[in-house]
Amino acid sequence: MVIVTKRRGGQRILRGIKHEYTEEEVMLSKEENDLLTRVGPGTIMGDMMREYWMPSMMTDELPAPDCQPVRLRLLGENLIAFRDTNGKVGVIGDSCPHRGASMFFGRNEECGLRCVYHGWKFDTNGDCVDMPSEPPEGRFIEKVTATAYKTQERGGLIWVYMGTRAEPPSLPSLVANMQSEGEYTVSGYYSECNWMQSLEGDYDTIHVSFLHAGARKPEEIPDPDISFERYALKTRWARHHVADTGFGCTSGNNRPAEDDTTYWRIAHFLFPFYAMVPASFREKGFIAVVPMDDENTMRWHVSCRNPALPRPPGFGGPPIVNGLPTSFHLDASRNGTGWFERFPIAGVRSNDYLIDRDAQRAFVGGLGYSGMPGRGQDNGMTESMGVIYKRDQEHLGVTDAGIIRMRRILARASRALREDGTTPPGVDNPELYKVRSVSTLVPNGVNGIEATQDLQWAELAEEEQPAG
Ligand code: FES
Ligand SMILES: [Fe+2]
Repeated sequence: MVIVTKRRGGQRILRGIKHEYTEEEVMLSKEENDLLTRVGPGTIMGDMMREYWMPSMMTDELPAPDCQPVRLRLLGENLIAFRDTNGKVGVIGDSCPHRGASMFFGRNEECGLRCVYHGWKFDTNGDCVDMPSEPPEGRFIEKVTATAYKTQERGGLIWVYMGTRAEPPSLPSLVANMQSEGEYTVSGYYSECNWMQSLEGDYDTIHVSFLHAGARKPEEIPDPDISFERYALKTRWARHHVADTGFGCTSGNNRPAEDDTTYWRIAHFLFPFYAMVPASFREKGFIAVVPMDDENTMRWHVSCRNPALPRPPGFGGPPIVNGLPTSFHLDASRNGTGWFERFPIAGVRSNDYLIDRDAQRAFVGGLGYSGMPGRGQDNGMTESMGVIYKRDQEHLGVTDAGIIRMRRILARASRALREDGTTPPGVDNPELYKVRSVSTLVPNGVNGIEATQDLQWAELAEEEQPAG
């Protein structure tokens, strides 16, 4: 399906609700696709990513002082993460500044990581603090530093800043990442494909009615007061509105609900790689789609715990224990110390994502549409598009308008940074990240994005209320 077209000045125009695009603007050329997908050092998008703090690891991956270092691939750079004797997390270049041996094999001891080749030792700032192979009269030690990036820990995640500011910006005020211990959940899973197609999948809320719940019946969703998702099963298609915001853009999928109401699923894209999609079990949650490099991605799902909001059955995803998601069908037996061996899921390309054709034929339950379990549903789709999807052949429909907009504002902001140094959205506005996704009923004929501003900004409203 092609977005509604009309003529203006003899040119075909693809029309969204708030934006109009020429065909050329919608279809991405190879150059534009490269711009969006390449994130290594010196690339336009990679430079923009480096303006932001990035959630990069789980705190639990470095469980104790002086524990084993971890290989961390981030924006095309090979890094080593370690927790020093004081508990501080360091992220330094993998290649030893002396003669390039891997710091992964280093001794993590007495507030530094010591290369085991010639014993040079580096602290979390990247300063060389010991050089035992060189004679003591030299001052060479003062001239040698390792690549080192600033880190912070918050809400179960280790954040890394790879940018150029001496004083980095604040962390984004993502509510689910600002809870006390026990009040949030963090899970991650690895995708063997480019970050952009992963993010497009996470920002796209229409696929839930097919990929994850295509075999579900509306009456299986127990209580419409708790979950409006039954309307996404009753009417599988949706209309779509998109609006620009200070943090990125907002999409409103909407479809008929009751006679006088429309069901709106309001999702956000937040720079540079966050999606907030409505789900009754994931209050105030977000997804971070963090590029490891051009061909590998880590996806973090962060939620507030809210057992009062049970997850509806069978919307794909992880098994539920005590009302909470437990995993993404992770396969611990495939965990390893390699660059891409963190948080692997069981279904991968080589086993066809564990597709069960009998389950697919049976057409019942969360497995019954795709036949694929867990996050193999998402990875099966996004990885099978090709490791770096070529976007010059696609046919975008009405419900892709949010994705079209996201691509355009990412391209525009990254170019503006490159060309005139314009700070990209959100870097210096951490409060904007307090927004929430929304799933609700709105009277027919009302724009749900505009009508639900109070719900979207409920976090700010609560704080503005006077104490007592
Ligand atoms: S290569 Fe690391 S100390 Fe020599
Ligand atoms: Fe999905």
